[in-house]
Amino acid sequence: MYRISELAEKVGLSRSTLLYYEKVGLISAKRQANGYRSYSEQDLQRLKLLQQLQAGGLSLKECQSCLESRIDRGLLLQRLKVLDDEIAEKQQARELLSAMLGMSSMRDWHQTTEKQAPHAHLDWLMKQGFDEKQALRLKWLSKDMNEHELYMADFELIFDGLERLGPGTEVDSLTALKATLPSTDPLKAVLSSTESLKAEPFNSGELLEIGCGKGVATRVLALHSEFTITALDNDKSNLNSLNKNLDKALKQRVNTVCASMTELPFERDQFDVIWCEGGAYIMGVEQALKDWKPYIKAQGYLVLSDLVWSSDNPCDELRAFWLQEYPDMVSAKQRIEQAKQAGYELIDSFPLSEQAWSDYYAPLQGRVDELEAMMPNSKALADVKMELEIFHKRQGEFDYQMLVLKKM
Ligand SMILES: C[S@@+](CC[C@H](N)C(=O)[O-])C[C@H]1O[C@@H](n2cnc3c(N)ncnc32)[C@H](O)[C@@H]1O
Repeated sequence: MYRISELAEKVGLSRSTLLYYEKVGLISAKRQANGYRSYSEQDLQRLKLLQQLQAGGLSLKECQSCLESRIDRGLLLQRLKVLDDEIAEKQQARELLSAMLGMSSMRDWHQTTEKQAPHAHLDWLMKQGFDEKQALRLKWLSKDMNEHELYMADFELIFDGLERLGPGTEVDSLTALKATLPSTDPLKAVLSSTESLKAEPFNSGELLEIGCGKGVATRVLALHSEFTITALDNDKSNLNSLNKNLDKALKQRVNTVCASMTELPFERDQFDVIWCEGGAYIMGVEQALKDWKPYIKAQGYLVLSDLVWSSDNPCDELRAFWLQEYPDMVSAKQRIEQAKQAGYELIDSFPLSEQAWSDYYAPLQGRVDELEAMMPNSKALADVKMELEIFHKRQGEFDYQMLVLKKM
C-alpha cells in the first residue's frame, strides 16, 4: 500500500492531481485508521497505464473510457491521424531548417513560397544577398539558393554558343512587325509576304526591345525597319554577343542598355513600339503589360511572345510540369483578355511556327548531347533535358503565342 506522497513520487504526479483522479474515479483510496489515504498496487499500475494512453494523445476522459471498456477504434484512428499530421508538420519544419543549412534541397520550399507569397519571397532572397538579377534567375532557373551558383555556371555552359534563348524565327518576328503598320499604310497592302518585307524596310521611330538576349530578333528588326532600337537586357555577356553580331551599318541604329525590365530607365511616352520575345514572363506578363505601358506613346505598340496553353484540358504530365516551371501560364485567350483589361487593343495574335520551336530546341538538344557525358550530375542539364522531353510530348497542347497590342 502506498501513501499519497509515495504514489505521487512513483508516478511523477502532484498530490492535487492524484486527488483529482480519485475524485473522477480513476483511482480509489482506502482510509487508514488514522484517516490517511492509502493506495493499492492496482492503483499504481492503473496510473501507469493511464500515463501511457495519455502519451498516445488521449484526453483524460478518453483514457478513462479506454480503461473501463473496450477501446474505441474510431477514436484511436482519429488520434492517429492527428499525430501523423503533427509528425508531417514537424518533418517539414525539420526539412526547411536542414535545407537552409545547406544539408538538403530547397526547391520545394522556394516553389511553394513563390506560389503563396511571390513578392515576399523575392524580397527575402534579396535579403539573403542575391541581387535582383540573381533572385529572378533563382526563381526561374536554379530554384535552390544553396545550389544557385553551381547551377547557373552549368546553365551558362549549356547555353554557351547558342544564339536563340527562346522559341522564335525571323518570319514570326516579321509577321508581328508587319502587324504594327497602320492599316491605312499603303505599304501594308503591298507587303503580302515576308520576302517582300525583306525588300523594303518600313516603319520608323523608336523601338525598345526588352530581354533582347543575344539579339536574334534585334537584328531582324534593325534590318527590316528604320526604327532606332534600344536593346535592353540585364546580362552584359548577352549584350556583348549582340554587339559583336551586328554589322557596322546596323550598329548605328542599335543602342544596348544593361538594366532590369522591372525598372526601365526611360522617359514616359518614349517608344513607338516595345518588343519582348519570350521575356515578359520573367516579371510576370500581367505586370509587364501594366508597368511597360507608360513608356509607350499613345497609339504605340507592345509586341510580346509568351508560352500559353492551347488545350483546355492538357494531359496531367504536361500540366504538372508547367505548373512547376511556369505557374502563371494561361491560354492565349486569357492573355488577350488580360491585355484588354490593361488597356490595349488586340491587333494580331498567332502561335509561333513549328520552326520557331525547332530553331530553339534543336541546337539546345545538340548541346545536351555534347555535354551529357561531361556533366552526369548536373541539375541544370537534367532540367533542360526534362524540358526537351516535355516538348516532344507537346502534341499541340501548348504554344508560344505572339501578341501584337496597341496602347489605347
Ligand atoms: C528567354 S530569354 C529570351 C531572349 C531573346 N529574346 C531570345 O528570344 O533569344 C530572356 C532574356 O531576358 C533576359 N532577362 C532576364 N531577366 C531580366 C531582367 N530582369 N531584365 C532584363 N532582362 C532580363 C535574359 O538575360 C535573357 O536574355
